[in-house]
Amino acid sequence: MGIHERWLDERRHEHYYKLAKKTGYRSRASFKIMQIDDRFNIFKKGNLVVDLGAFPGGWLQVVKNRIGDDGKVIGVDLKSIKPISGVETIRGDITDSSVIFELSKRLGKKVDVVLSDMAPNITGNYTVDHARSINLCTCVVDICDRILKKGGKMVMKAFMGDMFNSLKKKVEGRFQNVKVYSPDASRSTSSEVYIISKGFFDNKMVEVKPIIPSFEKRNEFAKKGDLV
Ligand SMILES: C[S@@+](CC[C@H](N)C(=O)[O-])C[C@H]1O[C@@H](n2cnc3c(N)ncnc32)[C@H](O)[C@@H]1O
Repeated sequence: MGIHERWLDERRHEHYYKLAKKTGYRSRASFKIMQIDDRFNIFKKGNLVVDLGAFPGGWLQVVKNRIGDDGKVIGVDLKSIKPISGVETIRGDITDSSVIFELSKRLGKKVDVVLSDMAPNITGNYTVDHARSINLCTCVVDICDRILKKGGKMVMKAFMGDMFNSLKKKVEGRFQNVKVYSPDASRSTSSEVYIISKGFFDNKMVEVKPIIPSFEKRNEFAKKGDLV
């Protein structure tokens, strides 16, 4: 990328940052999910949605607006999310089975949409960051096998790299329609893309082992998890 493109990218980044401040959204990322939904029609009024890696809550604000009062969204993050009216949150690590157990319990039924804007802690080492991102994405796919309803949708962030194609194949094995998209609000310098998937085949395709966290594990989660 040349100096001019870098300058333009910086300007665009700043534009969305200022717009988020001005319009009351908690993050610049809000505009990414708006642009994704405007193009791919992800949300419907009354939908049940799970947002993995939801802190500080920019996507949650957008989703809540778009699914309306009859819809419900639950956000999960390692960090505690300040309350948003009409939105439920869980503080926990999505790679921890007791957190997924708690999430499923709270949902009570399968969901229409699974979202993930998760990113690992960036080390600056491209190979490490890519591998960690793919690992998180693989967990998201596993969570879809557990909680996404037949015909459901998934939007998931991934960092590009040599393991990306095998991740995409895994997703293609589960959904009718899979697209890779980079919204305008993403930085062009970033390696992030979003995998947009529709038409979940449901989990008959794969063997899903039930999660039965030990009594100690459930207790541990009850102590550390924020149930807002
Ligand atoms: C880019 S931020 C999400 C921004 C959010 N979509 C918004 O609009 O405000 C990525 C989040 O993923 C979370 N995250 C990373 N790994 C996670 C994990 N294993 N479990 C839960 N959350 C995780 C991070 O804590 C971070 O808050």
